[in-house]
Amino acid sequence: MPKICVLGLGYIGLPTSVVFARHGFKVIGVDINPIIVKKINTGETHIVEPNLNEQLKSVLKNKSFVARTSPIEADIFIIAVPTPYIVGENGIFNPDTSMIFQAIESISKVIKKDNLIILESTSPIGTTENIYKFIQKKTGFTSEEVKFAYCPERVLPGNIFNELVHNDRVIGGLTSDATNQAINIYEQICSGNLYATNAKTAEMVKLTENSFRDINIAFANEISIICDEINIDVNELIKLSNYHPRVNILNPGCGVGGHCIAIDPWFIASQFPDITPLIQQARRVNLKKTTWTINKIKKIAASFYNNNGRLPLLGCLGLTFKPNIDDIRESPALKIIHELIKDDFKLMISEPNLLRYKGVKLHHYKEVIQKSDLVFILVAHKEFKSIKSDNEKIYDFCGIS
Ligand SMILES: NC(=O)c1ccc[n+]([C@@H]2O[C@H](COP(=O)([O-])OP(=O)(O)OC[C@H]3O[C@@H](n4cnc5c(N)ncnc54)[C@H](O)[C@@H]3O)[C@@H](O)[C@H]2O)c1
Repeated sequence: MPKICVLGLGYIGLPTSVVFARHGFKVIGVDINPIIVKKINTGETHIVEPNLNEQLKSVLKNKSFVARTSPIEADIFIIAVPTPYIVGENGIFNPDTSMIFQAIESISKVIKKDNLIILESTSPIGTTENIYKFIQKKTGFTSEEVKFAYCPERVLPGNIFNELVHNDRVIGGLTSDATNQAINIYEQICSGNLYATNAKTAEMVKLTENSFRDINIAFANEISIICDEINIDVNELIKLSNYHPRVNILNPGCGVGGHCIAIDPWFIASQFPDITPLIQQARRVNLKKTTWTINKIKKIAASFYNNNGRLPLLGCLGLTFKPNIDDIRESPALKIIHELIKDDFKLMISEPNLLRYKGVKLHHYKEVIQKSDLVFILVAHKEFKSIKSDNEKIYDFCGIS
């Protein structure tokens, strides 16, 4: 079995390493963060993912996996490092691929002929080609001597082990040899279909999928603001509209969060700013929905003040970026709560998926409902589903009922 070196041991790289190790590969996991590496080598993890700890312990025990802070020689390198964004001056967010190139630089010292380099990080179009050019400059290897492929990740945090194995995947090499070799590798761990294409198309597939979701959520969010204006129940409206055989409107919420849908559309927009009005506008509509929600909450609080002569205690239910997970990256609910705290509102917060959040004390949702003057449901967690929406002090911003 070939030896695999995985760079980046986060939500994607660590479960991927463990799955390959469980399938008989010898896997070396690399992370530049020594604390993470030390923790992983003792069988502990820094991320919350069902079954991860047990599976990690088992591959450490049978020595099919070990973590390090620097790469060593291997047959295959998988890059799963972050690709965050930098806020640009023109209102467009630009992808930051520096960590990909740092990872590539680190492997350039150990790369040898016939290696296969697979990029899994979400990336702007052309990144696979650019890492090849970078390696060629450093080592002189051609794309026939060292193979390059892009294989985007589609897993859902919370269900990663199931989806890593069962999801269909798109795999695009710089050459057809590279595509075939990458498919051969993923075939060892995937039972879903593996679709071959070129690297550029595979890069665009990943960005297109998340832009599609963002645009569709933006439509639901825009409709929800109109409904509020004309005093219509948006959830009833969407339910009735979706009885049309070819209509499927998504649920509106407080915005869009997470590490993918809220970021990836900018990767296309920043590369093609003049031909992406729809993608950019959808991003802005979804960002605006969060601001709209903050203003709405403030208005409701002001009306309470006018009627009662005192400021209300605001109960906020949910902190994470979507229901039933512990991930707060790019979370609209978190942004709303930060804004309210900044404006000196007194809050009581419930988040059933977190034990604590920074300095803020978290409460059981029933206590929040009982003690707060006004309650805002920001995330549709399963725990909140039993809350009676006919209670006048409860405002549902995520269609939980
Ligand atoms: N998390 C998801 O659900 C998800 C889904 C699909 C795609 N992706 C994409 O996968 C990529 C990785 O995301 P993630 O959520 O796993 O990130 P993460 O932040 O959880 O983990 C990335 C890890 O990479 C390490 N790292 C940074 N630079 C490094 C380097 N030069 N060498 C070795 N390690 C390095 C960091 O220390 C960190 O531990 C991103 O491009 C992301 O957009 C993520």
